[in-house]
Amino acid sequence: MTDELTFAHLTDPHFTVPEFASWSEIANKRALSVLSWRLKRKRRYQREVFEALAHDAARHTDTFVLTGDLTQAGLKSECEAAQNWLAKFAECRRVCVIPGNHDSIRLNGQRAEWEALWAPYMGAGAAFPYVKTFGRVAIVGLSSAVPTAPFLASGRVGSRQRKDLARILIECREQGLCRVLLVHHCPVPSLDSPRRGLSDAAALCEVIAEAGAELVLHGHNHRWMQHTIKGPSCAVPVLSAPAAGSIGMADGRYRAGYYLITVRATECSWQLSAEARQFGQEASHRRELHQFELPKARSEA
Ligand SMILES: [Fe+2]
Ligand SMILES: [Fe+2]
Repeated sequence: MTDELTFAHLTDPHFTVPEFASWSEIANKRALSVLSWRLKRKRRYQREVFEALAHDAARHTDTFVLTGDLTQAGLKSECEAAQNWLAKFAECRRVCVIPGNHDSIRLNGQRAEWEALWAPYMGAGAAFPYVKTFGRVAIVGLSSAVPTAPFLASGRVGSRQRKDLARILIECREQGLCRVLLVHHCPVPSLDSPRRGLSDAAALCEVIAEAGAELVLHGHNHRWMQHTIKGPSCAVPVLSAPAAGSIGMADGRYRAGYYLITVRATECSWQLSAEARQFGQEASHRRELHQFELPKARSEA
């Protein structure tokens, strides 16, 4: 079993075009998202930018994690377009996906359109949390994408997922795996407003403080973010990249970027390096490099 894995973390590409057959299809909160796309997002996010990043990353790795908001309004046509892209891209690559709030815009009780379409890139039956193991690395996918009222973009993991997560994190630790957790909303409590944050971030952090994890990757905020949360024996890094389809503001802020992450197993620790790569005029380039070393739990060493 290899002791090293490099994978790419891309998030929030928002790369699909919201096309709909009738206004009845979007006669709910989706109408606001479509309007927002027509007024500003259409110019801000471009599929070509996302594809350029993805192919830049593909020069370095064949393993990808996507932390949600592939679409603008979660319409069936958008989820199908994203699925078509995923199917082609994943022909010769390994891809893990979790949904974002934009992918899950729907009425309470409705099934999200991505559930059947994106299942091959998630867990069986689109159930969360899911685990996919690549060598010594366990990718653990959570869904924080829940239906919300208009003008809200908040998320929630929920007690059932948190309970299952605690068990999965302990099982993965006992198997000597490096645990990389994916969640769309930022899990650091109180960083985001209640309108757009993770409502049970503190409860999720309690699970991680107890059971541990080696890295948490999230999206939603469309900018480079680096924080830590408490783990059982040391701080757990929490990283997020900008929207992967963003052309950036006039001053270059929020320009698309992604992380290239390498996990190395040593006898006593996990060495993690996260290279932030930024979209440039002609190609992407290294922006900065974060390095972490986390001790393995005594039973794994
Ligand atoms: Fe987003
Ligand atoms: Fe989001």
